Amino acid sequence: MGTAGDRYDEIGCSYSRTRREDPRIAAAILAAVGPGWTLNVGAGSGNYEPRDRPVVAVEPSAEMLRHRTRERAPAVRSIAESLPFADKTFDTSLAVLTIHHWTDPAAGLREMARVSDRQVVFFFEQHVTHSFWALDYFPSARSLPTETAPPGEQFLRELLDVIDVTPVPVPRDCVDGFGVAFWARPEAYLEPDVQAGMSWLAMLSDQDRQDGTSRLRTSLESGDWDHQYGRLREQDAFDGGYRIAVATTAT
Ligand SMILES: C[S@@+](CC[C@H](N)C(=O)[O-])C[C@H]1O[C@@H](n2cnc3c(N)ncnc32)[C@H](O)[C@@H]1O
Repeated sequence: MGTAGDRYDEIGCSYSRTRREDPRIAAAILAAVGPGWTLNVGAGSGNYEPRDRPVVAVEPSAEMLRHRTRERAPAVRSIAESLPFADKTFDTSLAVLTIHHWTDPAAGLREMARVSDRQVVFFFEQHVTHSFWALDYFPSARSLPTETAPPGEQFLRELLDVIDVTPVPVPRDCVDGFGVAFWARPEAYLEPDVQAGMSWLAMLSDQDRQDGTSRLRTSLESGDWDHQYGRLREQDAFDGGYRIAVATTAT
């Protein structure tokens, strides 16, 4: 199955401890997904999957598939780059926080357009995420393969007929522990479970992760973090670079 499944066979073991859907972000994603049949690509444990519409999931990692409970939609073990479905099988295909992990994102997005009339992608803009304060404590994260050139809006517009791109602010008490989720709760980035649930921290070498954790701990204990970023603790929401793109190939 290649690196796609392998990466999440490692990261996936503790995924559900810190990764569960945030209701406000779910509402934004589900509003973008149309009625009818949905294909959830890179579906993982099933977060952000519609519950009131018929869904089929695609996921390459056996470990992530293991996290899918009985109530979740049926899943096929496959990759975005080669979707095992006939043209226009689905009304909507959905990809949430996954395209930066794909070996060939262009091929995967073309496949989504082939098998569905509408495509909904929840992704992040690298030029915003790279300025996130936590990366200054873990600077080698900027060089990870998933972070050096993740597909952003421009890339999506080259591949899909994008009709809308909407920023999705991350609430201060976001319950899904993805990359920027703890922007106002810096102490969380010291916790091993939180680190294990975020690919940008989980994929660092042990040494880099330990060094970054020590730097952040020292900065919090000395008050430096609060001196520089303390105003964030009072803010309700934050633009961490997350966006929803909607595209359509329906005529
Ligand atoms: C951060 S998780 C997101 C899972 C889920 N969409 C969510 O929001 O919780 C990224 C997922 O993408 C999957 N993935 C990685 N490479 C893939 C590929 N080439 N095609 C489809 N899915 C892939 C991983 O196995 C993992 O389950």
